[in-house]
Amino acid sequence: MAEPTVSQKSPYQIKLKAGKYFWCACGESKAQPFCDGSHKVKGEFRPVAFELTEEKTFWLCACKKTSNKPYCDGTHKNL
Ligand code: FES
Repeated sequence: MAEPTVSQKSPYQIKLKAGKYFWCACGESKAQPFCDGSHKVKGEFRPVAFELTEEKTFWLCACKKTSNKPYCDGTHKNL
């Protein structure tokens, strides 16, 4: 199984409005932390869809190794 590309070794702190988002799981997107369709090149990865009902600040995983996709769980500290 292929490993995702680490886009950076710290999470993206980002304020998001209510709506549906697609988190990049392959690490190749140029629109981090969101999917831009680049996963189609690596093949094995699919973006993670998530929906928000209110505006809030999040820490989205950028290392792509989190066990709580799309959110940072601290795994990046061990890379
Ligand atoms: S950035 Fe991936 S677990 Fe924190």
